[in-house]
Amino acid sequence: MTTSAGSPDAPRPLLNRRLAEFGTTIFAEMSALAVRTGSINLGQGFPDEDGPEEIREAAVRALRDGRGNQYPPGSGVPELRTAVVEHQQRRYGLAFDPDTEVLVTAGATEAIAASLLALLEPGDEVIALEPYYDSYAACIAMAGGRRVPVQLRPKDGTYHLDLDELRDAITPRTRLILLNTPHNPTGTVLTREELAEIARLAVERNLLVITDEVYEHLVYDVEHIPLATFPGMRERTVTISSSGKTFAFTGWKVGWVTASPELVAAVRSAKQFLTYVSAGPFQYAVAEALALPDAYFDGLRAELHAKRDLLSTGLAEAGFEVYRPSGTYFVTTDIRPLGGTADGFAFCRELPERCGVVAIPNAVFYDDRAAGAPFVRFAFCKRTEVLQEAVARLKGLATA
Ligand SMILES: Cc1ncc(COP(=O)(O)O)c(C=O)c1O
Repeated sequence: MTTSAGSPDAPRPLLNRRLAEFGTTIFAEMSALAVRTGSINLGQGFPDEDGPEEIREAAVRALRDGRGNQYPPGSGVPELRTAVVEHQQRRYGLAFDPDTEVLVTAGATEAIAASLLALLEPGDEVIALEPYYDSYAACIAMAGGRRVPVQLRPKDGTYHLDLDELRDAITPRTRLILLNTPHNPTGTVLTREELAEIARLAVERNLLVITDEVYEHLVYDVEHIPLATFPGMRERTVTISSSGKTFAFTGWKVGWVTASPELVAAVRSAKQFLTYVSAGPFQYAVAEALALPDAYFDGLRAELHAKRDLLSTGLAEAGFEVYRPSGTYFVTTDIRPLGGTADGFAFCRELPERCGVVAIPNAVFYDDRAAGAPFVRFAFCKRTEVLQEAVARLKGLATA
């Protein structure tokens, strides 16, 4: 539908120009396809089991006790802000003030949106690692910014950041770098050396950095190092995380920002007019979740590590070229060795009919659609028996 602006001859689309290129997200399309075809959904990244029972009970208790049922404080409930501070200290040795350096948001998604809306002027350039999580492009557009992708390139079974390319992408108009490590969809975890160089560049060129670290606890054989721990970064980095991935409650939408008081105040200015506040009772439950003993985090990592191996090995045996992830709960594959189409969109649209599995074409995470065309992402945050069944079905592809 269109409406006319002034003249009946000049029909005007309802969706504005900034958002016109962003249709329905592929996740909605593919999840609907999974339901319609009864397929195993390895597309969207949500676990098929809830997180710890005691944390679910903590949310019920908060609801029943009337904690958070009315507007919580704009920065988040003190219990959660304190728990975030203790988590950053215990895990990474980073000290933050719970009153001025923490902001609770409606998931990482709102933290990303509020940060970009707060920190960008129209025309500012934002460097983002491509392929990128799809909300980045939309939020940069909403803020009137210009995205400048720097591609992670596949080589020897993993994806790599070319630091020279990153350096060359910085111009006088660059306002910030939008990082994501561990990285969705490639599973790359930036190394200490890479992060040190990014930090050095940010300081040298006086750039801000927004770093999306929602998969901070989902790393296998490698270490996640927060960018804020590098020299000069504490005061120029907005660190974003969320409870969705770490505690397997993606529907609760409790996220947070840690940054300097000045950056937090700026992000809060945007956040207060997006949601003002969110998810009161869940904030109390997430505060308890963050204080879970190390055994919880170690157990989660061990479980997902085994699932990573199960799915990666199964996909390789089914004929895919597999980029075994060091982090996140996604595996990126190259479909070309299967011998059929090299178009991931076509492949993913056909896959449910061919073998009853849903995946996501990586091209949706690229500006340069051709570069992402032959790659397809599978999620392994599902029960072991579901992954085993998916692998069995995928192995049928070779003979179908
Ligand atoms: C890289 C990345 N950032 C942010 C999010 C969204 O997090 P939340 O559900 O907390 O909004 C996701 C979810 O898939 C993600 O993959």
